[in-house]
Amino acid sequence: MASTTTPLLADHHRHDSSSDRDSDDALRGQSSATQTGRSWPSRLREALLFAWALLATAGVLVLAVWVSHKHQTDFDKPAGKRNLIFMVSDGMGPASLSLTRSFRQYTEGLEYGDTLTLDKHFWGSSRTRSSSSLVTDSAAGATAFSCAQKSYNGAISMLPGYTPCGTVLEAAKKAGYTTGLVVTTDITDATPACFASHVNYRLQQDEIALQEIGQGPLNRVVDLMFGGGRCHFLPNTTDGGCRQDNIDAIELAQKEYGWNYIGDRPSFDEYWEGKKEVPMPMLGLFAPTDIPFELDRRNMNDQYPSLSEMAKTALRALEKATEKSDKGFFIMIEGSRIDHAGHGNDPSAQVREVLEYDKTFKAVLDFLEESKTDGVLVATSDHETGGLAVARHYPQYLWYPSVLANATASSEHLARLLWAHIASTTTTTSSSSSSLSELKKYINSELVIPGLGISDATDDELDAIALHPELAQPAFAQMISLRAQIGWSTHGHSAVDVNIYSSGGPGADAIRGNVENTDVGEFLRSYLGVDVDAVTKELREKMGSSSLARGGEVGEGDGDDHWIAHEAMEYHRLDETLGSA
Ligand SMILES: *[C@@H]1O[C@H](CO)[C@@H](O)[C@H](O)[C@H]1NC(C)=O
Ligand SMILES: *[C@@H]1O[C@H](CO)[C@@H](O)[C@H](O)[C@H]1NC(C)=O
Ligand SMILES: [Zn+2]
Repeated sequence: MASTTTPLLADHHRHDSSSDRDSDDALRGQSSATQTGRSWPSRLREALLFAWALLATAGVLVLAVWVSHKHQTDFDKPAGKRNLIFMVSDGMGPASLSLTRSFRQYTEGLEYGDTLTLDKHFWGSSRTRSSSSLVTDSAAGATAFSCAQKSYNGAISMLPGYTPCGTVLEAAKKAGYTTGLVVTTDITDATPACFASHVNYRLQQDEIALQEIGQGPLNRVVDLMFGGGRCHFLPNTTDGGCRQDNIDAIELAQKEYGWNYIGDRPSFDEYWEGKKEVPMPMLGLFAPTDIPFELDRRNMNDQYPSLSEMAKTALRALEKATEKSDKGFFIMIEGSRIDHAGHGNDPSAQVREVLEYDKTFKAVLDFLEESKTDGVLVATSDHETGGLAVARHYPQYLWYPSVLANATASSEHLARLLWAHIASTTTTTSSSSSSLSELKKYINSELVIPGLGISDATDDELDAIALHPELAQPAFAQMISLRAQIGWSTHGHSAVDVNIYSSGGPGADAIRGNVENTDVGEFLRSYLGVDVDAVTKELREKMGSSSLARGGEVGEGDGDDHWIAHEAMEYHRLDETLGSA
């Protein structure tokens, strides 16, 4: 239909090509002149201008199509060797960035315009809902990244109906890439688990550990794992074990699947800054469960490596391992415990977690800059945790970074110290009022003043903690939040969109702007150019319905590991035992 084509073109010409404005105006001026009669030269000029405009428009269109086609083909078929670093800030929403940025400016005396490295690489934002809820958990969140599909809360790379979905890491391994996972929580926790195992429900950590070392449908798919969660690899017959069965998964990893194993900081340090080449595959489990919050870890630096240290060592190891390969590596690095600080509503723990994550992000950028191999860094969160608000009491418009700056320990660490103190003294004292006041004195002078950096604890606050030590963690965190005027709306997750950060690179435009979390997953596999669907097919053939048999029951709700809440329950039991003894 010529009548629609012409106005469209004309319209496009008039409003779209701003560079043509001059000739456009000239054209219009000419048209009004035709009202009073046209001369041949002016008609010729009009025709020429029209032809020129038409050609220019066509040229722009052709160029645009060519560019987008070239872009498309480049992206669909990755040409050279490439590395992909995917970072996950578990539970970090946009408010955590504002909190941490201002905190850093305050503590380091920086200008208001000073930003985090993350801020400088802001890329877009991600919508996070799962298939079963508007508020996702980390399992469904990580499945969206690993499988590029929405699934139910609790799913470890399983789809609704309990069918497995292939992951980007598995497909990368099959395509010849070297693969790694680095976290600060249990390596069997939901986020890392989703890249290298398939179970119906995230709490099946015994099974996840086995699949991660290679006892799964695809055998071994990971080459390097650094993190915590050693207890999930040790049998129920040993002290440090938290498995339900008597399998020694560390021994199994070494004997059956060829893993090298390191289990402490001194062994880790042997590989620091390339002192010694990291033999592959390498399993490093540096804590029985979580690696302590960065705020506490600093005071135990001789016992635990930091996230940035683990990430740097891992990147160097993967680079070395792929030195002679025509394929690069894929690694997932998680700032796992930003989420835990959110669950605990502890802002002083959280700012240090985010700062360490930012430092790690910077280290990855530096690595990419120095690397001879092309690479892309993409970083995002699975969801927000805590419903963090960087304000609290209307009509006051302020919050106090100084309160967070004065804390030297997390609420989690202080609660543990309290429980240990009670366990060591309960046998000799009864719960009389004198012991209650003793306990309050201990709480204030040994924990609140030196740990929280709070010198004006009220009697009510100390009473509450002394009477309910199992609730000490949230009580300590609340003391900080109230004084800093930081607000929280939940001890769980929230549905707010989370940020995406990137170094940029081929295809990264696909996740610019506001995208779905599954789009991030699509990007990962596209960038590597790997066939995840073939892995899904293989998994379905191999696992079949046995996934259900191996699966165990599927629980209700989000099933998030309630970190210290578990220990609080343990404490309760301890309390009962001691009380009845
Ligand atoms: C340890 O695991 C084995 C199975 O592997 C089981 O038979 C045994 O009862 C477990 N022991 C304890 C104390 O749970
Ligand atoms: C932080 O600690 C310093 C030094 O002990 C103290 O002077 C200051 O009042 C504290 N700030 C807050 C907000 O507690
Ligand atoms: Zn969580």
